[in-house]
Amino acid sequence: MSFSYAQWVAQNRTARYRLSRKSGWLAYCDSGPRVDLPILSRAETALLAEDDLEDYNLARRTWVSNLPIVRTQQVHHAFTVLDQVTASTLRDGDRVRATAVLDGPSGLGKTTVAMSYCRQFHRSTIRALGSHTATGDQRLPVAAVQLGHKTTPKGLLVKLASFYTENVATSINSDRLAEVVLDLVTSCETEMIAIDELHFIDPRTKDGKGLSNHLKWLANELSCAFILTGIGLAKKQFFTEGLPGDEANATAQTSRRSTAIPMVPFTIVTPAGQRGWKDLLNQLEPHLKLAEAEPGVLTDHADLLFARTQGHIGSLTTLLERACGIAYRADIETLTEEVLTRVVLDNAAELSRRAG
Ligand SMILES: Nc1ncnc2c1ncn2[C@@H]1O[C@H](COP(=O)(O)OP(=O)(O)O)[C@@H](O)[C@H]1O
Ligand SMILES: [Mg+2]
Repeated sequence: MSFSYAQWVAQNRTARYRLSRKSGWLAYCDSGPRVDLPILSRAETALLAEDDLEDYNLARRTWVSNLPIVRTQQVHHAFTVLDQVTASTLRDGDRVRATAVLDGPSGLGKTTVAMSYCRQFHRSTIRALGSHTATGDQRLPVAAVQLGHKTTPKGLLVKLASFYTENVATSINSDRLAEVVLDLVTSCETEMIAIDELHFIDPRTKDGKGLSNHLKWLANELSCAFILTGIGLAKKQFFTEGLPGDEANATAQTSRRSTAIPMVPFTIVTPAGQRGWKDLLNQLEPHLKLAEAEPGVLTDHADLLFARTQGHIGSLTTLLERACGIAYRADIETLTEEVLTRVVLDNAAELSRRAG
């Protein structure tokens, strides 16, 4: 056997980068796609020694746990809007840049869109302008942070500073820390800041309002475009800064400055929706790494896959990962209705399926 699965596993193992740290972010931006993995026939698998079979299955499991990002229509639309928002990074530093907000339920690909867009932006900026600025600092076109459950305004500054450096002086006061962040953003020529898990801010509460005001202040101060991501933000009156009603919509600065990108599940009630769902399944099909999966193995089960996942792309990729795991281990080598039904899914998908 010329192809070594053990070697593949060693070279393509799961990447454990933390995107909220410069080192992890750069590793993510530099990583290329995995080398394709050849599939063995059932007869070839039967000849493998036990260790080789284990390596083969580990390689396949790693592959199917990292399905490629599919350019769905929604991803395409989100990227188009993000391109328009990003155009504001060309504004001179005295002008406020724009903000894009990816909003929708969990598991619909908001983080995936934001991170892959930012990665592309990072790479093209470095390609055009070089890895270092004219003053010799490392160029970091993007900084990424994730809010936590109780992130305070100062906590947000600490998180931002921690993206750039390990030694953040957390004991200094917020004003001083804001200066540190401003210096880091300026010296590394950061043009875009991605903030994930924004639903931890509830602008209807006092603390949430404080953090949301702080975010506005940052957007003014750090001439960067922002890509914000969160669950149910419109419902939490994020855009109207905690105020209900149309009037608030007209007056709130956040509403004026940010462009919402709503993310929704797939639907199969319209012919166009059905086509979109089948397109997605067709694009994922070559990645199942099963010896006896016939062409159309996923689209043949389009309705069952929809019923199990309610069109949530995150539930779908989990379902495929688990179903393939069963098919590898049990030597089934294809996805049958029985295998797809046997997989236990996330709580939300399971509850919705039973209710539906
Ligand atoms: N465009 C896509 N193509 C393939 N898989 C995707 C895509 N978008 C999301 N996924 C899958 O769904 C999972 C959940 O996506 P994520 O971006 O974390 O959702 P959200 O941030 O909306 O909760 C991802 O881990 C990935 O496996
Ligand atoms: Mg997310």
